[in-house]
Amino acid sequence: MFVRRIAVVGTGYVGLTTGACLASLGHRVICADIDERRVEELRGGRVAILEPGLAELVTEGLAAGRLDFVVGARNAVPRAEVVFLCVPTPMGEGGAANLAAVESVAAEVSGLLRPNCVVVNKSTVPVGTAARTAALLGRADVAVVSNPEFLREGSAVTDFLNPDRIVVGCDAQDAAERVAALYARLGAPTVLTDAASAEMVKYAANCFLAMKLSYVNAVAELCERLGADVLDVTEGIGYDRRIGQAFLSPGPGWGGSCLPKDTHALLQAAAAADFDFPLLQASLDTNTRQRNRMTDKVRAAVGGSLDGVHIGLLGLTFKAGTDDLRDSPALAVAAALRAEGAVLVAYDPGVRASVPGMTDGVEVADDPVKAAQGAAAIVVLTEWPEFRMLDWGRLAEVVANRVVVDTRNLLDADVLRRVGFEVLGVGRRPQLPPVGR
Ligand code: UGA
Repeated sequence: MFVRRIAVVGTGYVGLTTGACLASLGHRVICADIDERRVEELRGGRVAILEPGLAELVTEGLAAGRLDFVVGARNAVPRAEVVFLCVPTPMGEGGAANLAAVESVAAEVSGLLRPNCVVVNKSTVPVGTAARTAALLGRADVAVVSNPEFLREGSAVTDFLNPDRIVVGCDAQDAAERVAALYARLGAPTVLTDAASAEMVKYAANCFLAMKLSYVNAVAELCERLGADVLDVTEGIGYDRRIGQAFLSPGPGWGGSCLPKDTHALLQAAAAADFDFPLLQASLDTNTRQRNRMTDKVRAAVGGSLDGVHIGLLGLTFKAGTDDLRDSPALAVAAALRAEGAVLVAYDPGVRASVPGMTDGVEVADDPVKAAQGAAAIVVLTEWPEFRMLDWGRLAEVVANRVVVDTRNLLDADVLRRVGFEVLGVGRRPQLPPVGR
């Protein structure tokens, strides 16, 4: 394997995972960030992102001398043969991706890049960005490659080191091959294509996942109406290898920093290309409907108005295994409950204190019993496995009403029934009544 000198610009969960994992594959990596404090922490081996295995890889890379951190892209790129851009591309005006960070890094480094190096866009960027980046760099000797990431938060290191596939796109085939070779040790199927197609793969994948989830959430609603059970239905369809078992769990809607942003961005790109994409629009509409439906369930569980009613929430993050609250369906449901006057106390293993601008209007407790104390209903909003293991007997003693709205179908309803709880899931056939009622 060729050991390459690599620069990674941006140390968010994508950049840091990319840098640390490439170092673990034997490459020599310098990661740059504009945040001086973050760089200082990383040089000391301290990783603020909750990502299993990442801190260990950073420590290993530092100790082996294969990984280093610097402030500013200009200090990372001069000797690099490959430069990864892993900067944020937040949702901008009208849902389109905001490329300001990509553009400013391109402007900053264009004159400093080593001759004949390769610049790689790993950030999720609209189709055409590789070409635009190449124009911004204005360097005929530097190829721009699209190499989208498929890392899930909470399992980014595992996803990086065990990829389903590597996608590399560039109009100059040799540059694409050089980037693909960085991952050779992983032995993953590799798709070599042009830059626009590689950029499209990322959106097509995330939007497909969003559609799959909206479809499942719609099927769950229909199951409720027709007396079927969505868990049996998804198991039944998931064995079909063309469908697959993954990503079939209904919930309070999908969220996070990627799926909502990417669905909006692709819709925007479609509109700009004068293409009507009702299938994708319907996935977004179904997602809004699903979030609202969860509020209806809570209202039904407490038997009417939510005004002044105490609700205990279990889960705030957009999914389990992360502390990320961005576009969390849990927060959307909480906001809707709040708007109807509910008094909310939440417990989340990844969020131990209020986060200004995110959890406003929700009291964040450091213990599930505190969240449940006096609650007219408990609502499970994030699929943290530890919620299954809670001392439900203890929670039964402190709540005002023994009813749980389980928006993730996470809990063992039999266990809860035995301590007197009624459990209302999503898409489930009506459950047996609690024992002793
Ligand atoms: C997503 C993609 O899964 C990654 O492949 C991609 O690289 C990443 O976006 C990205 O673009 O960077 P992530 O945002 O970490 O990863 O979250 P997911 O694990 O995809 O979950 C998204 C949402 O769907 C969450 O709210 C989750 O709770 C929900 N979900 C997921 C369900 O409701 N049911 C499921 O069966 C699976």
